[in-house]
Amino acid sequence: MYNFALVGCGRISKRHGEILGENQIPGARLVAVCDKVLNKAEIIAKKYNIPAYSDMHEMMKEESVDVVVVLTESGLHAQHTIQLAPYGAHIMVEKPMALSLDDADNMIEACDSYGVKLFIVKQNRFNVPVVQLRKALENGRFGRLIMGTVRVRWCRPQAYYDQDAWRGTWAYDGGVLTNQASHHIDLLEWMLGEPVSVFAMASKALAQIEAEDTATVLLRFKSGALGIIEATTAIRPLDLEGSISILGEGGSVVIEGFAVNKMKTWNFCKELPGDDNILDKFSVNPPNVYGFGHKAYYDHVVDCILNDSQQLVDGLEGRKSLELITAIYESIETSREVPLRFHPQMCKLGQ
Ligand SMILES: NC(=O)c1ccc[n+]([C@@H]2O[C@H](COP(=O)([O-])OP(=O)(O)OC[C@H]3O[C@@H](n4cnc5c(N)ncnc54)[C@H](O)[C@@H]3O)[C@@H](O)[C@H]2O)c1
Repeated sequence: MYNFALVGCGRISKRHGEILGENQIPGARLVAVCDKVLNKAEIIAKKYNIPAYSDMHEMMKEESVDVVVVLTESGLHAQHTIQLAPYGAHIMVEKPMALSLDDADNMIEACDSYGVKLFIVKQNRFNVPVVQLRKALENGRFGRLIMGTVRVRWCRPQAYYDQDAWRGTWAYDGGVLTNQASHHIDLLEWMLGEPVSVFAMASKALAQIEAEDTATVLLRFKSGALGIIEATTAIRPLDLEGSISILGEGGSVVIEGFAVNKMKTWNFCKELPGDDNILDKFSVNPPNVYGFGHKAYYDHVVDCILNDSQQLVDGLEGRKSLELITAIYESIETSREVPLRFHPQMCKLGQ
C-alpha cells in the first residue's frame, strides 16, 4: 500500500481526493493533504478523516509519504517539486509540468539526483478511445501519416478567470495553449512524433487576461505529416468539443466529445476483426472536461512504482510538449515559423 499526499487543495484536488480518498486505486491510499490556505485542506481532510497541513515541509516531516502530488498553480510546480524532492517520495505533478524549459530541466535534475520518480499528469493519454488510437498507430495501421488536428472549443467565462489571481497570467498560468489545450498538444505530438516547425497566431478574443484565450497553430512533423491546433476558451454558451483526428494513408480516426472521449470515426483501408463495434464500445462522454483518465493514470503510477517499470509520462516526456508550447509562443510573438529540435547540417560525426 503506497501512501499518497496532496499539496494544493484547489479545484482539481477534488478529483485527486475522491480517487485516493475513496480507495478507488488498489495499492494507494490518501494519508494527508496540504494547502497554504488551511481551511481548503481541512475540507478534504475532514471528508477522508486524514490530517490537514498548511506547510508542505511539516507534512513531509510528520507523515510517511510514498508519493506526493503537486496540485498548485502551474507557475509554482517547479519550485514545489524541487523543494519536495529531498524528502525521497516520488512526485506526481499536474499539467503543465512547468512554464519554462529551465524550470522543467531543474525539476528533472532534482528528482534524478534524489532518486525519485517524476510523473506528469496527462490523463487524456489513458482515455479508452485514445488508447485504441495509439494501439492502431503502434501496429502500423495508419501507414504514412498525413495530418493530425486537435481542437479545444471550450467555454471559460470571465468569472472563471476572475476566481483566482493566477489564472491567465504569464507568470503562473499562460493562456489556452498552456492550460486547457496542453493535453491536446501532448496527444498530437504523442501520435505524430517529433515536430520540426510551428507557425502560430493568437488573440484575446473575449477574456480579459494577460495571455491568449484563442490560438491557431500550423505544424510540420519530422515524418512529413502536417498538423493543426485550434484552441479557444471563447466558445459560448457551452463547451463544444475537445477532439483529435489522425489521418494516414491507411486510415482515419476521429475522437470527439468534450474531453477526447467519444470515438467518432474509425475507418481503415484494411479492416480487422472488432473494427465494426469500436464506435459503440468507445463512445462515452464524461460529466466534465477532466474526463475519466485520472483514475487510469493513478493505476499506472502505482504499477510503475511497484514494478519499477517505464513511466508513460516522466519528466523528459512531459518536457516535450512544454518545448512545443514554448516554440508556439515564440512564433506568436515573432510572427515567424519557429524550428524545433537541433538537427546538424554540418557535422561529420556518425556519417
Ligand atoms: N489534468 C487536468 O485536467 C487539470 C484540470 C484542472 C487543473 N489542472 C492543473 O492543476 C493545477 C491546479 O489547478 P487548480 O484549478 O486546482 O488551481 P487552484 O488555484 O484551484 O488550486 C491551487 C491551490 O494550491 C494552493 N497552494 C499554492 N501554494 C501552495 C503551497 N506552497 N503549499 C500548499 N498549497 C499551496 C493554493 O492555495 C490553491 O488552493 C494547475 O497547474 C492546473 O493546470 C489540471
